[in-house]
Amino acid sequence: MPVKLDNNCDLSRHVIILTGATDGFGKDMARILAGFNPKKLILPARNKEKGNNLLEYIKSSNGHANNVEIWEMDLADLQSVKNFANKFINEIGELHILFNNAGIMINNQVIKTKDNLELQFQTDTKLMNVIVAKELSHIVQNENITTYSLHPGVIQSNIGHMNSGISNFFLGLFVKMYEITSEQGATNTLYPVLSPDNKETGKYYHEGIEREPNKIVDDQEVTKKLWDISEQILKDHEMI
Ligand SMILES: NC(=O)c1ccc[n+]([C@@H]2O[C@H](COP(=O)([O-])OP(=O)(O)OC[C@H]3O[C@@H](n4cnc5c(N)ncnc54)[C@H](OP(=O)(O)O)[C@@H]3O)[C@@H](O)[C@H]2O)c1
Repeated sequence: MPVKLDNNCDLSRHVIILTGATDGFGKDMARILAGFNPKKLILPARNKEKGNNLLEYIKSSNGHANNVEIWEMDLADLQSVKNFANKFINEIGELHILFNNAGIMINNQVIKTKDNLELQFQTDTKLMNVIVAKELSHIVQNENITTYSLHPGVIQSNIGHMNSGISNFFLGLFVKMYEITSEQGATNTLYPVLSPDNKETGKYYHEGIEREPNKIVDDQEVTKKLWDISEQILKDHEMI
């Protein structure tokens, strides 16, 4: 049975950031979250026009977009992320939920960002996300902060738009075999965070249900290496 959200969910005490809401099932995540009356919902966008369209989409579906704001941020630009974070700390100062949903999928090509990093690595490399989320769960365990890795299921979206036609042809076949709706993908991603069930921090959820991730996630040597390299990259770019 697919997971379902409680329609009475109340987010009036929650400040939320959701990345990647300008396309794909992130739009549905934003619409659903906006309908739960958040204290503030901030939706970072790298493309202003898509950000404005998103706000219109939320207004037309919910009747209003109260407490929803579009802020500029490009994840492929470290300075842009730092500017976003500084503005957020100065103007808002409290955060209850962060959904790192933005992502791209690139096959068989290496594209460098202006920071000279590989584009998918800088934006969202997926297995690394799971490793980092688990390691972070240990680091913040005494601060009443929990982390989860969330797989939405397979959804038709814009995720492969940078790949070749042939690669997208095979991706399309795969999607057709397992496809769920965008609404269900959004629900699957929101469910582990919004449902009142007891959940263990650092865990991996597939379509809303806890699953064992790839074994590599338990490899302490890999985890330490990834964490140290990531930290060094940020130091080299004078971000921390
Ligand atoms: N679709 C699936 O079957 C599936 C399966 C497993 C995991 N996922 C993950 O789910 C997440 C959402 O994917 P989707 O399928 O909804 O993809 P999508 O339709 O391509 O949407 C991706 C979103 O990420 C944003 N984004 C990409 N690069 C960015 C950057 N440099 N800075 C800021 N925002 C950026 C996009 O912004 P623009 O609108 O500006 O392009 C868009 O809002 C991704 O992390 C993906 O890896 C998807």
